[in-house]
Amino acid sequence: MELNEAIRTYRPCHHFQPRPIPPEKVRAVLAAARLAPSQGNLQPWRFVVVQDDERKRLLAQACVKGKPVAEAPIAVVAFSVEEDVPVTIGGYISAYPLDVAVAIGHLQLAATSEGLGTSWIVDFHADKVRTVLGVPEGIHPIAIIPVGYPAENGEAKTAEGRKSPDEIIAYNEFAW
Ligand SMILES: Cc1cc2nc3c(=O)[nH]c(=O)nc-3n(C[C@H](O)[C@H](O)[C@H](O)COP(=O)(O)O)c2cc1C
Repeated sequence: MELNEAIRTYRPCHHFQPRPIPPEKVRAVLAAARLAPSQGNLQPWRFVVVQDDERKRLLAQACVKGKPVAEAPIAVVAFSVEEDVPVTIGGYISAYPLDVAVAIGHLQLAATSEGLGTSWIVDFHADKVRTVLGVPEGIHPIAIIPVGYPAENGEAKTAEGRKSPDEIIAYNEFAW
C-alpha cells in the first residue's frame, strides 16, 4: 500500500483475528520503527514484541482495557531509555515521549500498509508492565501497540473525526 493511502485508511483496531502474522511482516513493521528520526538521533527507544500467550494475558491485565492486547497475535511494547535523553524541548518538556511516538507512528503506518491493524494503549499500570516484562530501572513503558489482522473492516471515516484545516493550521502568526 502506498504511504498516503496508509495515512488515509489507518483506523485504530480493537478486535483481532487469531491468525498469526508472517515473520517478514513483523520484521517490516519493526524496521519502520527502527528507521524513525529522533532528537539528536539518540534513538531512545526499545521495543519488546510480546508473542507468548501467557505473557500477553498478563500484559492485558496490566491495562485498564487490555482485551486487544490479549487478543492480538503480538503486542509491541514501546519503551524509552532515560539515560539516552539528556535534553529538553524549549526548556519545559523532555523529548523522549515524542521520539518514541514518532517511531510508533512509523510502525503503525507500516502495519497499515501490510494489511495489519494496530491501536495505541497508554492507559496501563506501569509497575505491572515492568513486572510482567522484567523491565529494569531507568526504562519507561510509553505505549502498548497490539498488532494483528483486523477482525472486522474499520469504516474509513478518519477525516470525519478530525478538526478542519482552519481550526488547526495558521500562517505567519498564531491567528486564533
Ligand atoms: C498518544 C496516543 C495515546 C492513545 N491512547 C489510547 C488508549 O490508551 N486507549 C485507547 O483505546 N486508544 C488510545 N489512543 C487512540 C485514540 O483514542 C484514538 O486515535 C482517537 O480517539 C481518535 O480516534 P480515531 O482514530 O478512531 O478517529 C491513543 C492515541 C494516541 C495518539
